Amino acid sequence: MSYPFQINSLAQYHADYKAAAENPDAFWANVADNFCWRKKWDKVLGWNFTEPKIEWFAGAKLNITENCLDRHLEKLGDKPAIIWEPNNVDEPARTLTYKELHAQIIQFAQVLKNNNVNRGDRVCIYMGMIPELTIAVLACARIGAIHSVIFGGFSAQSIADRMQDAKASCIITCDGAFRGNKIIDLKAVVDDALLQENVVQKVIVFARTKTPVIMMDGRDVWWDDEMNKISITDFTVAEEMDAEDPLFILYTSGSTGKPKGVVHTCAGYMIWTTYTFVNMFNYQQGDVHFCTADIGWITGHSYIIYGPLAAGATSVMFEGIPTFPDVGRFWDIIDKHQVNILYTAPTALRSLMSFGNEPLQGKNLSSLKTLGTVGEPINEEAWHWYDDNIGKNKCPIVDTWWQTETGGCLITNLAGITPAKPSWATLPMPGVQPIIVDEKGEETSPNPSEGGALVTSGNLCIKAPWPGMLRTTWGDHERCRVNYFATYPNLYFTGDGALKDAEGNYRITGRVDDVLNISGHRIGTAEVENAINMHNGVIESAVVGYPHDIKGQGIYAFVIYNGEQMDDNILRQNIAATISKAIGAIAKPDKIQFVSGLPKTRSGKIMRRILRKIAEGETENLGDITTLLDPDVVAEIRDGKV
Ligand code: PRX
Repeated sequence: MSYPFQINSLAQYHADYKAAAENPDAFWANVADNFCWRKKWDKVLGWNFTEPKIEWFAGAKLNITENCLDRHLEKLGDKPAIIWEPNNVDEPARTLTYKELHAQIIQFAQVLKNNNVNRGDRVCIYMGMIPELTIAVLACARIGAIHSVIFGGFSAQSIADRMQDAKASCIITCDGAFRGNKIIDLKAVVDDALLQENVVQKVIVFARTKTPVIMMDGRDVWWDDEMNKISITDFTVAEEMDAEDPLFILYTSGSTGKPKGVVHTCAGYMIWTTYTFVNMFNYQQGDVHFCTADIGWITGHSYIIYGPLAAGATSVMFEGIPTFPDVGRFWDIIDKHQVNILYTAPTALRSLMSFGNEPLQGKNLSSLKTLGTVGEPINEEAWHWYDDNIGKNKCPIVDTWWQTETGGCLITNLAGITPAKPSWATLPMPGVQPIIVDEKGEETSPNPSEGGALVTSGNLCIKAPWPGMLRTTWGDHERCRVNYFATYPNLYFTGDGALKDAEGNYRITGRVDDVLNISGHRIGTAEVENAINMHNGVIESAVVGYPHDIKGQGIYAFVIYNGEQMDDNILRQNIAATISKAIGAIAKPDKIQFVSGLPKTRSGKIMRRILRKIAEGETENLGDITTLLDPDVVAEIRDGKV
């Protein structure tokens, strides 16, 4: 059975694209009619990109969880909503039907209420990939509390930063998380974070690993104890939310300062994640969808939880890592749960590809119908490996480009509907109007490329709002304006560079700002530099990305150190430990080079362009260095050791 807003042919894609561009109000009202509203909207769209102010479905009332759960109960109540695959292969998988998930969510929503969490309050969630994480997220949405999920790999300092910025009054966590053969002591990390200034009143702890933890009287409570206190008659009804009420905050890295809290709102985000989920994967009722992302990132929010559940789909959630207990784990999961759609990151594919095809032996992947990638550009080699060995050349591959800020996918081919082009994200979704501009914001015109085709290149912007776009950055609207809407008047600037071919296909070439993409994880160079500079004896540092075979990009740090004499390798380890403490292990540099100076302009600006070239191994064409304060430093860095 297809959805009323499902795109079923190439001709329909073009027609829908045109309709959404010409009359967005009518187009999106039609899509929105397929959702459940307490009250319908007064106006579909109101916007300006100057303040910016973006409103979708103003005046409408809804609760997103009624769309993700309640409305499916009658027909799909016994259908699996979540299939959970644990880290450990000896532990049985768990299935939660729509009825079961619904029951858990309303019960935990009441737990939140009992612990004085109310509409508009902020709740940080720092858990492993277990069903209770999904339950926590949706229970917040049920009562109108604003969730802010923090990826389980982030450090105590990162939690403290987020918790302080959001002024969270409650944290939901676990004693620990299983990850491969490790146990991560999540509660201990939260305890550390809570040593810093905070307004947290309650910490709710789910017992997953049975690791000993310290519970602070009056503040810390056990998930199970709280659930057991509730009788079915206690259940409160879902909060009636305004379309534009915040649904969640998700922190993400930018080119300057600390991560910013991207805010998504109830109605537009719901419509966008559902619409894109159904259309990019060509989802058909009954398909089993496996998104390998962590719910700590936007991909998990949109395509493990909200999009699939609002569409009444079955979503697989995996606790562990692709290499545990062996590198065939993804293929085992596909075989075991008869997965139809696999959505993963190019970095995972490159890593699994490096083990050859032996881990695929004996795994039945014939249930697969659609493959997807997200998070970073996919190189052609990985694309073909995916196509040949996983999809057996019969599954369309969708290369989905989007960002934390966009809520859901903006540019992709549609599985089986619009053509794929390896390493190209291809065409915009209906409702998305990309434009490629030069430094001055002028639309660029095609240049004959090497292959003779007419290709345009420049910075990727979007001309008009789509329902799932960010509305603000938490507590600092000006930061949102400056970051996304001030570079080019009346355009949303993505921070990405892109190419466009004569057929209108887009290829994302990567960030044009100081944001790195390490294994599909977004990290700001400024954040890493600040962390390095915290290390005793470090005078200054500069961080750039360089091409990395598996991770896509690696982190290369140039460091001026003037502290106590010690072995370079020990010092490197100490600096890496400082970064782990400040941000998390994901931000550890792959290379650290000690230098006596950095290439700076006379006004004191670090010339990263030169450092990037050196990091890439370029020795000859380093560009014009005559404007540098001290040009000699370049040769020293170029000839230095890592
Ligand atoms: O540079 C783009 C890259 O990831 C950035 C967004 O990162 P984040 O907010 O963490 O969201 C990742 C998951 C949606 C983008 O600015 N990116 C994402 N998808 C692709 C991509 N680059 C190339 N191709 C993609 N398909």
